[in-house]
Amino acid sequence: MAISGTLNLPGDKSISHRALMLASLVNGRSELRNLSSADDVVSTISCLKSCGLKYDRTSNSVIVNGGNFVDPDQPLDCGNSGTTMRLLLGLLSGQGINATLIGDDSLSKRPMKRIINPLKKMGLKIISKDYKSPIKIQKSKLNGISYHSPIASAQIKSSLLFSGLGAAGTTMITEPILSRNHSEIMLSNLGAKIKTNDLSISISKSNNFSPLNLTIPSDTSTASFFIAAASLISDSRLKFNRLLLNPTRTGFLNAIKKMGCTIKFINTSIENGEKIGNVEVYHQKLKGITIDKNDVPSIIDELPILALMATQAHGITKVSGAEELRVKESDRIEAICDNLKNMGADVEELDDGFIIKGPTKLNGALIKTYDDHRIAMTFEIASLIAEGKTQLDNNSCISISFPEFYSTLESILQ
Ligand code: S3P
Repeated sequence: MAISGTLNLPGDKSISHRALMLASLVNGRSELRNLSSADDVVSTISCLKSCGLKYDRTSNSVIVNGGNFVDPDQPLDCGNSGTTMRLLLGLLSGQGINATLIGDDSLSKRPMKRIINPLKKMGLKIISKDYKSPIKIQKSKLNGISYHSPIASAQIKSSLLFSGLGAAGTTMITEPILSRNHSEIMLSNLGAKIKTNDLSISISKSNNFSPLNLTIPSDTSTASFFIAAASLISDSRLKFNRLLLNPTRTGFLNAIKKMGCTIKFINTSIENGEKIGNVEVYHQKLKGITIDKNDVPSIIDELPILALMATQAHGITKVSGAEELRVKESDRIEAICDNLKNMGADVEELDDGFIIKGPTKLNGALIKTYDDHRIAMTFEIASLIAEGKTQLDNNSCISISFPEFYSTLESILQ
């Protein structure tokens, strides 16, 4: 068995959410090609349609007509998507919309205080029970604030930037470590009054945006699962076209290079402010590495698959400063550590990460996915290198970020 081939993956999920939300502010026709096929993005589309967005799909693009926000007549169901809920709270509050946002069981347990408190400070009437979904917002007059976020979170930053588009004065957000910056890039391309200075961004009331015309780069987080498979399985060689290479998202590629992986970057360029390129990855012997809190924002969604790679690397891999993993779609520290231990890996769980000693042989096991797509995909890749049968308690959750996961894997397994 080996992995080989060339992948053209669907568009990045983070960029897809933002493109749809910002296109809904544009009075006119935006065209988005290679939009993510993730269920999470479908949640964003359906919420925006309930708020007046006109949406059409042609064979290779989606056409959206925005600029026509209305109060939805039913609760907006954000499904499993934290990005949908947190970013929409900002976007809709900035447009004076009355709405109630709800989510599935996992999303209803996730922390929303981090968004509710700063939005309240801006003057938003926002009602929740124990800072959790359902969350109701009421049309309010918003004023810009200066907010120092205690967490490096692109969801907090983007929510406040979107809200700031409709607030009087200037809204300034400072984050402790740079998180993904797709919102800043897209807002600036649209012509919003936005300025970035190191870790601080300020935005003033903006409207009259020009339509978006984007081909969304391939999702770098989705690619990480296939990259891991290629680097773990002998004689593998895998190529990706038009992969998103924004430096706030390449923590995984940087980390596995340090582990000894060979990665070739071909034809890199900047398109609509985002770095993209073709990337080739080969199987290689790996060694352990250290990831600390400064590295975490750029690798946050790839830490589960990195943990699997660490079980096959020579030496110790230590990840710390990653306590945010405990409040993702599941407690990912627990999910990674328990499942890898069940497969026979040498793993120590930390409050804010884990220590893995490798290499160890993995044995097939029954995997608890906690209905978390990234845990499920990690352990499907683990099943390729484990001895014996590995079975997931639920694999349908994979469609949350990548409905084509199994057909894609099949296409590159030789
Ligand atoms: C995302 C930001 C990250 C990431 C999530 C997507 C985004 O969350 O984990 O999958 O699109 O803004 P935080 O910024 O809250 O860490």
